[in-house]
Amino acid sequence: MTDVDDMVESTTAYDVDDLRRAFPGLDPGLARFDGPGGSLVPAVVTDAVADTLRAGLCQRGGPTAQGALADRTTLDARAAIARLVGLPDARGVVFGRSMTALTFDTARTLAQDWGPGDEVVVSRLDHDANIRPWVVAAERAGATVRRLGFDPVTAELDDVEPLLTDRTRLVAVTAASNLLGTRPDVAALAAAAHEVGALVHVDAVHLAAHAPVDLGALGADLLVCSPYKFFGPHLGALVADPALLERLRPDKLLPSSDAVPERFELGTLPYELLAGVTAAVEFTESWGMAAVERHEAELLARLLEGLAGIDRVVVHGRPQRRTPTVLVTVDGLDPVEVSRRLADRGVVAPAGSFYALEASRHAGLGDGGGVRIGLGAYTTGDEVDRLLAGLRDVAGE
Ligand SMILES: Cc1ncc(COP(=O)(O)O)c(C=O)c1O
Repeated sequence: MTDVDDMVESTTAYDVDDLRRAFPGLDPGLARFDGPGGSLVPAVVTDAVADTLRAGLCQRGGPTAQGALADRTTLDARAAIARLVGLPDARGVVFGRSMTALTFDTARTLAQDWGPGDEVVVSRLDHDANIRPWVVAAERAGATVRRLGFDPVTAELDDVEPLLTDRTRLVAVTAASNLLGTRPDVAALAAAAHEVGALVHVDAVHLAAHAPVDLGALGADLLVCSPYKFFGPHLGALVADPALLERLRPDKLLPSSDAVPERFELGTLPYELLAGVTAAVEFTESWGMAAVERHEAELLARLLEGLAGIDRVVVHGRPQRRTPTVLVTVDGLDPVEVSRRLADRGVVAPAGSFYALEASRHAGLGDGGGVRIGLGAYTTGDEVDRLLAGLRDVAGE
């Protein structure tokens, strides 16, 4: 059997209509391409959140059943995220309000140890949440920030090696661009960064919705993701080897636990959302992220072929390895206007730079960006055709 036969066979087993039935928020009147901004959630997740709120939890621990449940809810969610990213020890999972909040916290913590002459590398391909926290922390510490560029046409990341020195303390890079879809070779970048003794901080927020994530294979020392991008509730998770977390001293309250990972978690955790995280991870496990990836690859091919046939539509970036997230503009039309006209046709494809501001500027799109078409696990071929028809209409073709 060839790889293609294998793929077709596995794709057939992926029943998108069956999967869609799990999402009560899916409105058949709308074709949704806004998943990269946050996915819809299946009923199992909303049920888990509601059930936990109803269970009367207060705080972890103590002599009551509610205390034990809060404890178990927390540990289950850590275990779920650890499985999701291939982390052997769930003590390395830290929860926070969002990836952005966690990354500001991590940057502040790591920068306690940085000074003039030290260097930090950030990539222009990244969401600003994996740039600004490092820039702010480096500037406060008097350290130097170096920027890794990308090819504005292909959206392939440049080679990191020329930027690395024996003073590089950290390299921050995305596992997948939420604007252009590029999946850089993070493993090679991490190997080069480790050669000079730098830590590698990987933003897997966009990737986690589209493909299996493996901390070890990526070579990440620190990795962040946000469950609301992969069918879960709104919060963020930071993942690392607990041995690394043991070496870090975050700002914390005096009476709060000094254990890892609690040391990094400010205040009381949202137990109901943690229950939703576990349900979301179990949901992805029941479908298999590899199957989701194949389903999306098939739809992406259909989308790109259709887009190539519309003269006024420009597709930005053509990275070799990518997520099914495609940025387009229509010649002569503002992206906001294109998005509005698509919305009039029941097609949801938002416009902007999606906080990947440096990427948008570097790709020649200024601050306005483009229209982002995000395919996802619950996207159907009919929806792709509806989007293509809408774009042809908007482009007057
Ligand atoms: C690639 C990427 N990184 C980081 C973030 C920020 O995540 P959060 O909203 O959890 O702070 C986003 C959100 O859109 C994103 O797409």
